[in-house]
Amino acid sequence: MTVETRTAADLGVRSDFPILTREWDGRPLIYLDTAATSQKPQVVIDAVSDHLASHNANVHRGVYALAQEADAAYDESRRRVAAFVGGEPATTIFTKNVTEAINLVAYAWGRANVGPGDEVLITAMEHHANIVPWQVLCHEVGAELRYLDVDEHGMLDPAQLDKELERGKVRLVAFTHISNVLGTINPVAEMTARIRAAGALSLVDGAQAVPHMPVDLRSLGADFYAWTGHKALGPTGIGVLHGRRELLEEMPPFLTGGDMIASVDFQRATWNELPYKFEAGTPPVAEAVGLGAAVEYLSALGMERVRAHERELTSHLLARLGEIPGLRVVGPPEAARRGGLASFAIEGMHPHDVAELADRGGVCIRAGHHCAQPLMRCLGLSATARASVGIYNTPSDVDALIDALNAGREIFGLGS
Ligand code: ALA
Repeated sequence: MTVETRTAADLGVRSDFPILTREWDGRPLIYLDTAATSQKPQVVIDAVSDHLASHNANVHRGVYALAQEADAAYDESRRRVAAFVGGEPATTIFTKNVTEAINLVAYAWGRANVGPGDEVLITAMEHHANIVPWQVLCHEVGAELRYLDVDEHGMLDPAQLDKELERGKVRLVAFTHISNVLGTINPVAEMTARIRAAGALSLVDGAQAVPHMPVDLRSLGADFYAWTGHKALGPTGIGVLHGRRELLEEMPPFLTGGDMIASVDFQRATWNELPYKFEAGTPPVAEAVGLGAAVEYLSALGMERVRAHERELTSHLLARLGEIPGLRVVGPPEAARRGGLASFAIEGMHPHDVAELADRGGVCIRAGHHCAQPLMRCLGLSATARASVGIYNTPSDVDALIDALNAGREIFGLGS
């Protein structure tokens, strides 16, 4: 890792990311779409490439030395990933992405434990990965899907959570740690304590949190915690589910086939121990190795530093966006209560035009419903533009976005 600069606002790691040397029309690539996917440092690219070039074999099947190297690499990656968030390797399950991790719980736990008249509670700020699996479960078993509201500052109301739980019907509450649209950081430990006291289970979607702040599963108290590798400097194709051991042991499998079995007879099979019971088929070994390298890189940088950096950049982003006439930012007003992103609408400009004009300035931002259509409806918007930061961004990246937005407003005749 190269650490060239020493301010919170610039971690000096840009040169670790080869893609950021690309240029468009002589301008450097400015990437402000880390909430969609992060860029990858050279150490992650090297780890995946070295695994495929020198250590590739199927895992849990071979007695030869090369296969044992692949086994060791896969196990070591799981150990690193679990340790990164204070989890246990046996209860750290590799999935394809966060969507599959949530589906695993909705299918394996949900079909066995949620029935007619029960309720599943989610929030109006969830993205589709944490809505649709619960919709399908509730439709299938005759349960009711209910929502916690989001207030005008993008926050949940603990009193509404208590009121919902008091009804005595909620079996599970699924909510995001950090909203991918509002940026809101939800008070996970406080919420899981209330949920546990009411006898319900909690599932937390940590896809936008784990890459950006210290996450310690032991203090969060969630029954299930899910996240994804590609937003955390790792490759695509690898997600993570952490679950409470007793729950995972009681749950039936989700996907079935090779590797997740202990034995198979003509008519029945028995299940492997954790975590393999939930990892059917050949797992994403190279992807796991890449994610193992990614969390080592983040650990070496220090997640407190990562959070301080992104908080400072977000303050700068909010302040600079505030200079643009007719621009509305959604979500909490202060950087302290949000992750490293800001979604916004500019009066007189469609968010897709905003993103396109940013692109003309070499700046990548996302526009659209951000896979959160119900939230968009609550906000009274069909879409927003969203800028999201990562460890490689600096205040000058934010300034380049503001310059591009101001140039865009002029093109739209909205003044300077
Ligand atoms: N949920 C991802 C995003 O917010 C895809 O962009």
